[in-house]
Amino acid sequence: MLRTIFLALFTVLVSAEDGSRAWLRYAPVPQASSHRLPPSIIALNSSSNSPVYVAGQELQKGIKGVFGKELSISSTNKGSPAIVVGTIDAYKKTYGSFKEARELEEDGFFLSTTGNTVRIIGQNERGALYGAFEYLSRVSQGKFSSVSYVSNPHAPIRWVNEWDNLDGTIERGYGGASIFFKNGYVVENVTHAAEYARLLASIRINGIIINNVNANPTLLNDRNIAGLARLADAMRPFGVQLGISLNFASPQTFGGLSTFDPLDANVDAWWANITNKIYQSVPDMAGYLIKANSEGQPGPLTYNRTLADGANMFAKAVKPHGGVIMFRAFVYDNKILYANWKNDRANAQVDFFKDLDGKFDDNVVVQIKYGPIDFQVREPPSPLFSTLRKTSTAIELQVSQEYLGQQCHLVYLGPLWKEILEYDLRADGKPSKVKDIYSGERFKRPLGGSAAVVNVGTNTTWLGSHLAMSNLYAYGIMAWDPAVEPDDVLQDWIRLTFGFDRKVMEVITDISMKSWPAYEKHTGNLGVQTLTDILYTHYGPNPASQDNNGWGQWTRADTFSIGMDRTVKNGTGNAGQYAPEIASMFENVDTTPDDLLLWFHHVPYTQKLKSGKTVIQHFYDAHYEGAATVQTFWKAWESLKGKIDTERFEHVLFRLIYQSGHALVWRDAINQFYYNLSSIPDEAKRVGNHPYRIEAEKMTLSGYKPVAVTPFHTASGYTAVVTTSNTMAGSVSTNITFASGVYDLAVNYYDLYEGKAQYAMSINNRTVGTWTGDLEDKLGHEISRFLDGHTATRITFRGIKVNKGDVLRIVGTPNGIELAPLDYVSFMPPGKVD
Ligand SMILES: *[C@@H]1O[C@H](CO)[C@@H](O)[C@H](O)[C@H]1NC(C)=O
Ligand SMILES: *[C@@H]1O[C@H](CO)[C@@H](O)[C@H](O)[C@H]1NC(C)=O
Ligand SMILES: *[C@@H]1O[C@H](CO)[C@@H](O)[C@H](O)[C@H]1NC(C)=O
Ligand SMILES: *[C@@H]1O[C@H](CO)[C@@H](O)[C@H](O)[C@H]1NC(C)=O
Ligand SMILES: *[C@@H]1O[C@H](CO)[C@@H](O)[C@H](O)[C@H]1NC(C)=O
Ligand SMILES: *[C@@H]1O[C@H](CO)[C@@H](O)[C@H](O)[C@H]1NC(C)=O
Ligand SMILES: *[C@@H]1O[C@H](CO)[C@@H](O)[C@H](O)[C@H]1NC(C)=O
Ligand SMILES: *[C@@H]1O[C@H](CO)[C@@H](O)[C@H](O)[C@H]1NC(C)=O
Ligand SMILES: *[C@@H]1O[C@H](CO)[C@@H](O)[C@H](O)[C@H]1NC(C)=O
Repeated sequence: MLRTIFLALFTVLVSAEDGSRAWLRYAPVPQASSHRLPPSIIALNSSSNSPVYVAGQELQKGIKGVFGKELSISSTNKGSPAIVVGTIDAYKKTYGSFKEARELEEDGFFLSTTGNTVRIIGQNERGALYGAFEYLSRVSQGKFSSVSYVSNPHAPIRWVNEWDNLDGTIERGYGGASIFFKNGYVVENVTHAAEYARLLASIRINGIIINNVNANPTLLNDRNIAGLARLADAMRPFGVQLGISLNFASPQTFGGLSTFDPLDANVDAWWANITNKIYQSVPDMAGYLIKANSEGQPGPLTYNRTLADGANMFAKAVKPHGGVIMFRAFVYDNKILYANWKNDRANAQVDFFKDLDGKFDDNVVVQIKYGPIDFQVREPPSPLFSTLRKTSTAIELQVSQEYLGQQCHLVYLGPLWKEILEYDLRADGKPSKVKDIYSGERFKRPLGGSAAVVNVGTNTTWLGSHLAMSNLYAYGIMAWDPAVEPDDVLQDWIRLTFGFDRKVMEVITDISMKSWPAYEKHTGNLGVQTLTDILYTHYGPNPASQDNNGWGQWTRADTFSIGMDRTVKNGTGNAGQYAPEIASMFENVDTTPDDLLLWFHHVPYTQKLKSGKTVIQHFYDAHYEGAATVQTFWKAWESLKGKIDTERFEHVLFRLIYQSGHALVWRDAINQFYYNLSSIPDEAKRVGNHPYRIEAEKMTLSGYKPVAVTPFHTASGYTAVVTTSNTMAGSVSTNITFASGVYDLAVNYYDLYEGKAQYAMSINNRTVGTWTGDLEDKLGHEISRFLDGHTATRITFRGIKVNKGDVLRIVGTPNGIELAPLDYVSFMPPGKVD
């Protein structure tokens, strides 16, 4: 009895699943008890800041969770079977020979579970820790078979970038406030940073840039440098090296010099000096990340110096300390003239960097976003990868879903990354996969690898959403080994995060693998880019924002035609930046794959695709298909009730239901926009034709008035209604003319970042639903303060009995700037979504 109570208590405690343990839950494994485990752990380093020591602690903790057994740890061989973890050197010293030693590369490890001993041997301390996490990942997944293998990294640089600001906010961060900074300074309490480093080590990430690429020079003040030392000390035991982003103008704005010209001797001396000072506090600092001459940031071009001059200035400062400079290729002019047909932001990187190839110091790595524009839902790989032959490169990916639903939409990115990494750019007519270029293999470069913008925050879920963590996991695993299949990585993550239930595995695999294609379909397909609001928050639909400005994320959509003409023969010449085989494929409209058609070609809406459909009909159909797929996600998830702890079940269910509504907002906004522009009707007669809807502006309004929404296509019928007063409730009402029956009632409304309006919906004075406009709390980040495609959302009340002639009424009570805005109500018969 006592034991039962104790067990129950234990179960409750360990099942408080707030997401903070991510994939390192070490939950009990059913078959574990029948597995023979060595009786103790030997960690061949007793210094508590050694990754080998940490590996011993981690093994103890993990084994206790998985097997329910408490193993002792020692640092010396007692001759009995054990789980041994250490470096090659330490192992040889204790046990004599280790024949696999020569196969191990830097950070690599050997894992053997054959016989009665488990051997985990790292090429270095970090490698030993990676091996321990590998072993724990295996047993946590119930993989108990005997194995013996060496695992080496695909590339030496496997970093994450965090865009944290010193004030504690995070640019494009959707998981709460910074874990590194607050009120202008590094935080005092570094526990969170250490926990994050542990997560990163478990996916073999070896470096972290902790501050925004749009960098604040006051990071270099004494108090912050002392803070950097604290953070580095906290992360070092996990083998994660700290680095920082710098502001190019710091010598002037922070150091008080009259210039920041990279060829000025005083400027060089200033950087060398501050760099030496930082290395005194952080002797193993990884290096610097530099965003220069991009989006208004200062840089060497300010002084008519080259980007290489700028990068090399930093390279020389960190060289004596073994540091690396990650120099972002994201350099472009954000004020290019739209009127010039030949202008193209996608050309900028090759234009800026091609003549600098070979001019960068050895310890400079040019960090290139995967596509030539900016983390869009689909882009071809950046042509810069096959252009730079004598320069080390890294690929920049984005775990934070800036353009891909900002963690409010489930979008599993493994498949997107896989396509890019495996893309063969055919440099010199030879196999030249992107992954083999940045690893250094293809052009025989000493350095290279990958960086992902992650932007975790203080939220217990790290990224703001439990399911978004599959992206962080996949990033690390793919950085180590890009050959892995994204669905395999996903399934490992599912087992580690949610356990062994087959249905759970099936559902999460299914919705995750469908999520990127669905998102592409209902946002921007055929290579047109994510048709979001590029001038504001990069979240909801606003296709018009792409064009007629200097930012260059153009679609060139007009009344007859759409797409960027990037051909050499008549367009921007961007296709010609690729190696000849690729260039000729993209040059020709017939050989360009449909999914990049509008990236490379400007075509009439009536252009036929390979499928036989016209471009415009494909748009309509894809938006309907993508949104329909998303409707299935929450239902599939709901079928897992009882198989997942309540906390995570409810959190994810809420988001998937929200996503299903927002996918419809996307679908309708984009379709209305292109229908309006092209005047070509949808063959299936769906666009602009919603038989189940009653527009709010057509109802009887009392204390409410119609308003035009901007952009117009983010309101059904281009119009919404808001209360006439910001204090008094209003109501909308209408006679129901639909046949009597049972309906799902969907209300589309706008939930602004500020204000918590209240709503009550009734039928014949019988309340059928009440809700509050409080998504700002539930989605966890700022979306927008206007009626637009970001705030447009839907709530559905299911199975409502309605009689023809009943009166529907919604009473809206405004709050703050939120004037209880309403768009329409849809009376959906069972099985219909409109
Ligand atoms: C033990 O770990 C410390 C800290 O990482 C390291 O400096 C030391 O060299 C290690 N000792 C051995 C014998 O590997
Ligand atoms: C530091 O933060 C951790 C986790 O956020 C917390 O558990 C701990 O109590 C904090 N320590 C101090 C001294 O505030
Ligand atoms: C280097 O920095 C120190 C303070 O850290 C300062 O006293 C010294 O003047 C600096 N030297 C140069 C050349 O900037
Ligand atoms: C910038 O440098 C280029 C080449 O080095 C030179 O031709 C040009 O005159 C310079 N412009 C200015 C404004 O100094
Ligand atoms: C985490 O974010 C969710 C929204 O996703 C929010 O409801 C919750 O309060 C946040 N928790 C913390 C600890 O910040
Ligand atoms: C060629 O470019 C012009 C703009 O310079 C454009 O108007 C025209 O449609 C293009 N022709 C073709 C065949 O794409
Ligand atoms: C497009 O929208 C405008 C108003 O914004 C309207 O006057 C026009 O009739 C619409 N065209 C079509 C085809 O819907
Ligand atoms: C409902 O219909 C009746 C009779 O046609 C009409 O008097 C009333 O104003 C209508 N109510 C609403 C809310 O539209
Ligand atoms: C609803 O209630 C109002 C008064 O609050 C009343 O005037 C009206 O007749 C009621 N309508 C119905 C359909 O019961």
